[in-house]
Amino acid sequence: MAQALRIGLLGCGTVGTGVARILSEKAQQLARIAGRPLELCRVVVRDPSKSRDGAVPQHLLSTDPGTLCNDPLDVVVEVAGGTGAVRDAVLKCLGAGRDLVTANKALLAEYGPEIFEKARKHGRAIGFEAAVAGGIPIIRVITEGMVANRITAIQGILNGTSNYILSKMTDEGLNYADVLAEAQKLGYAEADPTLDVDGTDAAHKLSILAHLAFGVQPPLESIPRRGIDGIDAVDIRFASELGYTIRLLAESWNREGKLAMHVSPVLLRKQAPLAQVRGAYNAVALVGDAVEDTLYYGKGAGMLPTASSIVADLVDLAVSRERMVHRTGLLWPVGVSKEPAILPDTDLKSRFYLRLLLPDRPGIMAEVAGILATHRISIASVIQHESTGSPDSRVQMVIMTHEAPTSDFRMAVEEINRRGFAVLPVTHYPVAD
Ligand code: NAP
Ligand code: HSE
Repeated sequence: MAQALRIGLLGCGTVGTGVARILSEKAQQLARIAGRPLELCRVVVRDPSKSRDGAVPQHLLSTDPGTLCNDPLDVVVEVAGGTGAVRDAVLKCLGAGRDLVTANKALLAEYGPEIFEKARKHGRAIGFEAAVAGGIPIIRVITEGMVANRITAIQGILNGTSNYILSKMTDEGLNYADVLAEAQKLGYAEADPTLDVDGTDAAHKLSILAHLAFGVQPPLESIPRRGIDGIDAVDIRFASELGYTIRLLAESWNREGKLAMHVSPVLLRKQAPLAQVRGAYNAVALVGDAVEDTLYYGKGAGMLPTASSIVADLVDLAVSRERMVHRTGLLWPVGVSKEPAILPDTDLKSRFYLRLLLPDRPGIMAEVAGILATHRISIASVIQHESTGSPDSRVQMVIMTHEAPTSDFRMAVEEINRRGFAVLPVTHYPVAD
């Protein structure tokens, strides 16, 4: 049999342990498919005394990233995460002639041009199937399966942790903090879970998909993003009463040569395909001008689903298919302005959900309706449950609007907040029908 593909791991936590397990448990199957063994030769971690699920022989462990450059290796799998020390280590590995497989979407979204330039300079390939949507092979879908298309829209549930939290809150009535702790324990969340729940992780992934689909390099700051960290169970209940489910969506679409992009919790009709996506599952809907609507579904986070994508990249390297799959030569070019023309919010329209906590007094509904009317926002439905009627009682009022320009809606919300009659600032989300 041909010489083994010699693999070094940088990091061996949730994902790295999964990679080590698959390489060991499926060694024969992988060697048969690749035509050569895939051999784990080095594992770099911070703390070698931690248990690695029995997946890594002790003699492979090191705390020195330099070993990944100095040992005889063909490829380094970066599953450490972060963009500081790890970015330096990755650049050094590419410089030392190692191919790279990474699950690190933050690294690619923020330093894609630098990393890919280094790879091009040293003739190396980069696989990153695991960086977006975990176990769903969405990178291959775009770079191989949809090459005959001009992609016009991407709509995805791209963060498993947020989806796990939202669906547990919706289906089991659990509270936000408890479900977040559970998602961390299950290995879905980032080392800093703020990135999951504030929409940054989904924005990183959207920026990678937008690069592959539209050829742009959107700076992270140019992607408006809002996460699920402010979600209140009361909004999940009202959405359900109205026939909707809340999901964190990452969306981008091309309109007249400009790109709309955002990450936000959105109310989806309960029967919509993306509303059915529960737990740590992800789903990505892509529209191509030839194939039209397509939908991809699978586990977006977790040890083995993510490792599944990494091992697929390793097999591609072993059989030298990586240049077709990852097009290292073309991705994230430097020195070419690829910043997209972003459609301003003022050009985007949506329906909206808004919830107001109000004193229960005469005229308050008319006041809210009047402000919405001033800003040309038309009301589609209203919910207000009966209150106790006592002089100091408060009521929740929920309004669904007809489609309106986002800018008009924002001005209406600002005015309601400025007038000061609502007990708390207005809660609002877009609605997708
Ligand atoms: P994790 O469980 O926190 O593991 C990180 C590993 O990296 C640990 O083994 C840690 O060492 C090691 N490490 C961190 N910084 C290091 C450094 N400077 N030098 C050497 N070793 C270092 O993280 P994870 O969940 O596996 O995620 C890893 C990467 O995969 C991240 O980029 C993440 O975004 C991405 N990803 C994760 C998932 C998922 O479901 N978890 C899915 C897709 C992509 P110690 O063990 O000694 O602490
Ligand atoms: N923290 C990420 C998520 C891991 O929850 O989706 C997968 O990229």
